[in-house]
Amino acid sequence: MTLRAVKGMNDILPDEIGRWQALEAVLRRTFELAGYREIRTPVVEPIELFVRSIGEATEIVEKQMFVLKREDESLALRPEGTAGVARAYVASTLYAREPVSRLYYLGPMFRAERPQRGRYRQFWQAGVEIYGDPGPGCDAELIDLLVRMLSELGVQNLRVLVNSLGGAETRARYRDALGAFLRPKAAELSEHARRRLDDNPLRILDSKNPQDQAAVAGAPSILELLTPEDRAHFEGVTQALTALGTPFEVSPGLVRGLDYYTRTLFEIQTSGAEIGSQNALLGGGRYDAMVKELGGPDVPAIGFALGLERVLLALPQTEPAANARCFVAPLGERARVEALVIARELRGAGIPAEADTRGGSLKSLLRRADGLGARLCLVLGDDEIGRGIVMLKDLAARAQIEVPRAELVARARELLASAPPAGGPAA
Ligand code: HAM
Repeated sequence: MTLRAVKGMNDILPDEIGRWQALEAVLRRTFELAGYREIRTPVVEPIELFVRSIGEATEIVEKQMFVLKREDESLALRPEGTAGVARAYVASTLYAREPVSRLYYLGPMFRAERPQRGRYRQFWQAGVEIYGDPGPGCDAELIDLLVRMLSELGVQNLRVLVNSLGGAETRARYRDALGAFLRPKAAELSEHARRRLDDNPLRILDSKNPQDQAAVAGAPSILELLTPEDRAHFEGVTQALTALGTPFEVSPGLVRGLDYYTRTLFEIQTSGAEIGSQNALLGGGRYDAMVKELGGPDVPAIGFALGLERVLLALPQTEPAANARCFVAPLGERARVEALVIARELRGAGIPAEADTRGGSLKSLLRRADGLGARLCLVLGDDEIGRGIVMLKDLAARAQIEVPRAELVARARELLASAPPAGGPAA
């Protein structure tokens, strides 16, 4: 029986990897230009970390964690990156060494959700976390950076939603107001939402159930209940975004599925059809209370994470780049070792090259070169060795020349640098 990958977890095969690597390179470059340094944390953390940071009464913690029990430890595959980065920030006392830490990460996350297009059980996130900067300018700069990055990548039809959840006082006020609004409508709510009425009414705003969505229509807006400090902060964010020319919409219903958020909250969506119903490309916000909650000092924080699969779905398909490889094709015994030497020389000069080690006729070797998508095939047999030359076949131009052995690397480099003739990639 053929073994399959775990439901909702995908292999990324060599044919697809080019697009992934290109996106990862843009992400790393964007973050590094803006002063973020990479951090790598374990994919497994104590369950307790996620319960304390993401919140006990959230879908992620209640239903979606992959839990591992080992001896007396209760662990979970990380459903997101923020909690682990915050834990590492506290444990390493990074705060004692730098007033502001700008960190980024890239890696797989795990959530036992119902898989569909754009939603998987193992998915890849890239994200950043900033510690130590409470100001609204920091929030606006991050949102602006992301909007620009997605536009430059070529993602179309972006929608930038921003909201504020305020601090603890605003949240408490809003919880009461929302509870008072929804309690008389309890009978109209789904059973799940009814349970949330007491423990976490904000989550009802996030419900995908049409019954709940109808019930929350007309609910009070959190923006009307912000304390003066929270309001001033939010105005600082929206004013800075306007000044930067970043398009955005204020969306008072935006709550997002994690309980750690305070003040600024944002999400960037695309309305393009390519990614199906999972239209959120990235989400983030402030979480000023988490570092203290995890045993660190009172340090404010903000961050975001982006789903790589979703961004790849939203990006235009690009033609694979022409393949600048060499295939070295030996004919006969004497040429075998010489082919290995040539391939080694080419690689030493930074030119991608592989030598055939299986043997065969010229026709079969050319077919192999073709199968690899190589641009150049370097053919040598007893005759070429005797004359101190190599036959260099440009498979894209369908031309061949004899090149003295000593000039081989230079000539190969020249040909690879020249554009292949019109009519497509190397044939
Ligand atoms: P999140 O909104 O849960 O936030 O996830 C961020 C992004 O990860 C989503 O917008 C989406 O693109 C992608 N994503 C989430 N779940 C899946 C899934 N099952 N399949 C595919 N893609 C998915 C966070 O994770 C927060 N840690 C973001 C953050 C960082 N907030 C502050 N700092």
